[in-house]
This record gives sequence, structure tokens and C-alpha cells, in this order.
Amino acid sequence: MAALPRLVCASSVVLVVWAGFCSAVCVEVPSETEAVQGKDMKLLCISCMKREEVTANTVVEWFYRPEGGKDEPIYEYRKKNHEFPSRFSGRLQWNGSKDMQDVSITVVNVTLNDSGIYTCNITREFEFEIHRPLFTSSRLIHLTVVEEAGEDFTSVISEIMMYILLVFLTLWLLIEMVYCYRKVSKAEEAAQENATDYLAIPSENKENCAVPVEE
Ligand SMILES: *[C@@H]1O[C@H](CO)[C@@H](O)[C@H](O)[C@H]1NC(C)=O
Ligand SMILES: *[C@@H]1O[C@H](CO)[C@@H](O)[C@H](O)[C@H]1NC(C)=O
Ligand SMILES: *[C@@H]1O[C@H](CO)[C@@H](O)[C@H](O)[C@H]1NC(C)=O
Ligand SMILES: *[C@@H]1O[C@H](CO)[C@@H](O)[C@H](O)[C@H]1NC(C)=O
Repeated sequence: MAALPRLVCASSVVLVVWAGFCSAVCVEVPSETEAVQGKDMKLLCISCMKREEVTANTVVEWFYRPEGGKDEPIYEYRKKNHEFPSRFSGRLQWNGSKDMQDVSITVVNVTLNDSGIYTCNITREFEFEIHRPLFTSSRLIHLTVVEEAGEDFTSVISEIMMYILLVFLTLWLLIEMVYCYRKVSKAEEAAQENATDYLAIPSENKENCAVPVEE
């Protein structure tokens, strides 16, 4: 009968480890805010769940607000995906995860006109308490669309650093090689000199060694 508590104990350990693993995996990364014309743009919206929210229903609403305009709904997830008729029609794709922590959408073939503010509103609610949302969260994405991908400043810097490092390392390697070569050839010269000396040493040594023995 001692097996049951042990089983409970083991499974709770597994649960704790599993829960720890899951919460470690979900990270609320902010979305990129620059898109390139003609490319697809993933509007990232991640909202990690607390343990009590796992059984809740997730409702996701996406809004778009052009410069100086007002929010209009463009996409919704309420048990199923729904795209509102808008200037995006046919260009929005659900790009979220099954567990509803990642509720991103992708805008296909971005145009310069797609710049503006995107809002992602998440509501988690219990099935039988429709008017009592458990949790709401909201993310704003200020999107700018550029004509061509500009090179990232930091990537330019790191590229330059890489070349400097490469040149420096090559030079250092060359200097080291020359130094080593000279050292080795000097050592060889010395060894050769030693070798010629060596031939002469034994006879001297014999005499030296012989002295203490005699005393
Ligand atoms: C999200 O979009 C990317 C690129 O369009 C695609 O490769 C990926 O499979 C999509 N993921 C989901 C869950 O739809
Ligand atoms: C993207 O949109 C432009 C302008 O709306 C259109 O001319 C082009 O064919 C589209 N490209 C793709 C791959 O759908
Ligand atoms: C961008 O929007 C303006 C005004 O809404 C419209 O006149 C223009 O045709 C649009 N351009 C494209 C490429 O969709
Ligand atoms: C999104 O949610 C926030 C906070 O709950 C709310 O203030 C905002 O009005 C909502 N946005 C839209 C467009 O409904």
C-alpha cells in the first residue's frame, strides 16, 4: 500500500518539472517594428499563461489604426479564425500556436500603406462566466514599412569588427610563424654546434670524473 503515496509523489514531481519547463519556454518577445515592402510581416504577439488560465478560453482581437485614423478590427480569433473585411482582405494569416500563448498574425505582401499601429488584444475567459474575463492584455505594434531592407547599423559594425579581427589574427599568425621559424633554426644551429662540442666532451668528462674517485 506504500506504492500509492510514492506514485502520487513521483507524478507531482513530474508535474512540477513539466510546469517549470513550460513556463520557461514561453517568453514575451516584442514584435519587430520594421517591415519591408513586398515581404511577409509577422506581427508577433505573445502572452504567456499563468497556471489558472490554462482552462480558460482565449479570445484574440487584432486592430489596425492608420496614421491619424482610428482602430478598426481586422482579425479575430473566437473559437475559430475570422478575418474582417478591410484593406487587408486576403492578406492576413493566423500565425499563432495551438496553446494560444502565441497569437501572432502574418501580413502577406506588405505595402507602404500598411504602416500604422496594430493592436493585439487578448482576453481569457471561463466558458460559463462570459462576462467575467479572467485576464486581458494588450500589445501595440508601431509598424513602419520601408521600401528596401536597410542594413542594420549593428550588423555593419560587427562586420567591420570581423574583418579587423581577421586581418589582425592573420598578421599575428604570420609574426608568430616567422618568430618560431627563427627560433627553431637558431636552436638547430645551436644543436649542431653542441653536437660538435659533444664529441669533444666525453674525454674531458672522463678526466673530471676520475678525479673525485681517486680522493
Ligand atoms: C508562421 O509563418 C511562418 C512564415 O510564414 C511559417 O513558416 C510558419 O509555419 C507559420 N507558423 C504557424 C504556426 O502558422
Ligand atoms: C504584392 O502586392 C503588389 C501591389 O499590391 C502586387 O503588384 C504584387 O503582385 C503582389 N505580390 C504578390 C507576391 O502577391
Ligand atoms: C494607399 O492609400 C491611399 C489612400 O488610402 C490610396 O490612395 C493608395 O492607392 C494606396 N496605395 C496602395 C499602393 O495601395
Ligand atoms: C484593447 O485592450 C485595452 C486594455 O484592455 C483597451 O484599453 C483597448 O481599448 C482595447 N483596444 C481596442 C481597440 O479595443
